[in-house]
Amino acid sequence: MTARSDVHSKGRLPFVVEKNSAPVALAERTAVLADPGFGRVFTDHMAIVRYTEGKGWHDARITARKPLSLDPASAVLHYAQEIFEGLKAYRLADGSMAMFRPDANARRFRHSAERLAMPQLPEEVFIESIEQLVKVDRDWFPTVEGGSLYIRPFMFANEVFLGVKPSSEYLYLVIISPVGGYFKSGAPAVSIWVSQEYTRAAPGGTGAAKCGGNYAASLVAQAEASKHGCDQVVFLDAAEHKWVEELGGMNVFFVFEDGSLQTPPLSGTILPGITRESLMALARSEGLTVREQPYSFDQWKADAASGKLTEAFACGTAAVVTPIGRVASPEGEFRMGAGGPGQTTMRIKQKLVDIQRGVAPDPHGWVHRLG
Ligand code: PLP
Ligand code: COI
Repeated sequence: MTARSDVHSKGRLPFVVEKNSAPVALAERTAVLADPGFGRVFTDHMAIVRYTEGKGWHDARITARKPLSLDPASAVLHYAQEIFEGLKAYRLADGSMAMFRPDANARRFRHSAERLAMPQLPEEVFIESIEQLVKVDRDWFPTVEGGSLYIRPFMFANEVFLGVKPSSEYLYLVIISPVGGYFKSGAPAVSIWVSQEYTRAAPGGTGAAKCGGNYAASLVAQAEASKHGCDQVVFLDAAEHKWVEELGGMNVFFVFEDGSLQTPPLSGTILPGITRESLMALARSEGLTVREQPYSFDQWKADAASGKLTEAFACGTAAVVTPIGRVASPEGEFRMGAGGPGQTTMRIKQKLVDIQRGVAPDPHGWVHRLG
């Protein structure tokens, strides 16, 4: 089945829609949607757009999700020229569908492309690809409490050439995974391992871009965290090994006894999280003080011991807002407050989730309805 919309204005592309002729059977889909986990099952379709130097972006389609065929000399397999995004679509209380701030993801995708010497995908094409795909896969919203569609746009270099240079060809794709919670443990608060040996990103590097290489670099530290019984790793800065930066896949916030919040500043080495920015706006609109200031690991320990620091939490699209209970490092471990979810953390989380789900008013215009 093919449906064409003939929009040819700058920054837009017509998407051809080819329906999957062998979608997942209803009974299987229903079972999966009751307990989807995170990132292990996928919908029936994907979006794909090609880029060729000289020709630009072309051949935009929504098509059956299927394996890709890649030449072994494709540039991405050798030099990791790859970027991605992560955002969610929700079924709102009134039954309609919406995405949270897709324009912010489209912008960050362009910035990541720029840093990785890749062509920038027009923001309209990014948003259109996702809108079209979610509409085609609208029957895949999880039925589990707190479920959503996790949308994964990504782009990689596929020129067949082993010289080290920006590729002349790229593929942009979007896949969707119906998801529940990110953390398997389902515990009310997660534990964090402070990596002393490894860093994630250095000044001048790619820390502020969402490129696969950053995650590859974080895996050995994440494995170390798991070995020490922790859910996630938190990285310190590369220059002094002193300042808290972020987790492998989340930003971090600290909550103090005076009710103020603090988060590391966007120094170029951490990802400018959209959840981070949204939470800062929500906290400030509640009259809370939010500082974007460096926070050292030594201070973190001291403030937790003195009781000045009462809560800490991780935030991101996948994790939403997740309280941090226990912090471990080679020197020992400590907890904040009672080691469980803090009051401010849970209040601000609820505020965000209520906006995302269409339960509360959306004064910032963050909810992008799909009709
Ligand atoms: N930091 C890293 C390294 C991430 O991978 C993510 C997830 O996308 C975040 C922070 C949070 O970003 P966002 O809130 O835009 O999902
Ligand atoms: C996200 O929250 O979207 C992330 O990218 C984190 C992780 C799944 C890589």
